[in-house]
Amino acid sequence: MSTPQHRIRTLVQTLNRYAHEYYTLDAPSVPDAEYDRLYRELEAMEAEYPQFRLPESPTQRVGGAVLDGFETVVHAVPMLSLNNAFSPRDDETGAFDHAEFLAFDERVCKELGVAQVEYAAEPKFDGLAVSLLYQNGILVQAATRGDGTTGENVTENIKTVRNIPLKLHGEKQPALLEVRGEVLMLKADFAALNQRQLAANQKPFVNPRNAAAGSLRQLDSKITAQRKLHFFAYGIAQLSGAERLPESHMEELALLHELGFSLPEGYFGAYTGAAAVLREYERLAEHRPRLPYEIDGMVVKVNSLAEQQQLGFVSRAPRWAIAHKFPAEEALTTVEAIDVQVGRTGAVTPVARLAPVFVGGVTVTNATLHNQDEVARKDVRVGDTVVVRRAGDVIPEVVRVLLERRPMVEKQPALGGDLFSGSLEPLHEPFRLPETCPVCGSAVEREAGEAVARCTGGMLC
Ligand code: IVH
Repeated sequence: MSTPQHRIRTLVQTLNRYAHEYYTLDAPSVPDAEYDRLYRELEAMEAEYPQFRLPESPTQRVGGAVLDGFETVVHAVPMLSLNNAFSPRDDETGAFDHAEFLAFDERVCKELGVAQVEYAAEPKFDGLAVSLLYQNGILVQAATRGDGTTGENVTENIKTVRNIPLKLHGEKQPALLEVRGEVLMLKADFAALNQRQLAANQKPFVNPRNAAAGSLRQLDSKITAQRKLHFFAYGIAQLSGAERLPESHMEELALLHELGFSLPEGYFGAYTGAAAVLREYERLAEHRPRLPYEIDGMVVKVNSLAEQQQLGFVSRAPRWAIAHKFPAEEALTTVEAIDVQVGRTGAVTPVARLAPVFVGGVTVTNATLHNQDEVARKDVRVGDTVVVRRAGDVIPEVVRVLLERRPMVEKQPALGGDLFSGSLEPLHEPFRLPETCPVCGSAVEREAGEAVARCTGGMLC
């Protein structure tokens, strides 16, 4: 017969294993209903025997009391930043110019007195840096980066992040482990969250990074629990009482994986020499739009920890690592005109003509506005300052308008009204699709339930 204490322990272990299979390994071994059944049993047992509740119980992930504010945490090891290297692309050929990265590699080789260095490369996640502290295998504190020296205590919120272990995996747990990594929101979860925001008449989030930041910095961790956040580990800041100490960055990552942390599967590895690193950079840049999370570059680190130590730090950044950035996918520009294009199928598409802007690695002068509903929803007008986005080979699009920069004029006083009312109105009218095709003059029509308007001229245009 199992005692209540024993049963609770078994349930916690089983549920944590199922959750790890689901959230970290992407390989669930039981149907959701089975997980739910055991979870309810655990909830009931914990209510009856609160003295046997475990700190790593999955019931600790739903959020707790509402805080008045976040406590300050002093980082035992400062959270530093990285120096950047950019690789601008040739407008015509698209070829990368890697001079900045090559200069970094040359400095490293010279300093170490070698011809070639072994590097570790991984994505530069576009989220928020956090630090997780485990004592004897149990998550005891989580903090944001803050100014690098002190951050905010977000332990309750971090516990709601499903792929962060509340208890480290394996038999032998280190006495102390401080994990560094990035909290982010997957692109799909971000899109779903914004759908819900819009449906509830609330402001959508600007991008996944902002949504992740807003979700992590909630004083009410129950709200964080409803936002799906994700964590990727990228380093160890402190480790003691471990069986064996890693000697390279790759060994650190391997250990973190064994302890239950998610790594960017398929996108991290060791590469010898600059040329091999650059091949990986170009591969990652190409895969970037298809990744389920946003990245803004590749972080390249000298793999050997001994060599890292030899290189040391300069001001607030390591000399053994660099953020090899990708071209920004978003930029600001202004709308010079809004035209319509008629496609081969007769689809009439509004197109923004833009002041030329360098985005996603190329100069962009046009961006699609998709259809009338989209123009109306975003309220894009001539003269507006807009955010344009070009991700990979996807057609550039206007993401949103900076309404505070919209050109305005003084409102014409109404007949018989005050001569000067002092109020302003937009210089330009909202855009409307023309009623006739600009190519053949036939009527433009939109079928009920359809987003796309079409020229009715058949094959004429
Ligand atoms: S390592 C001492 N690895 O980049 C080096 N940082 O500019 C510590 N970041 O605030 C950082 N992905 O949030 C490292 N794979 C990665 C990263 C990464 C994103 C962020 C991190 C930090 C910033 C440094």
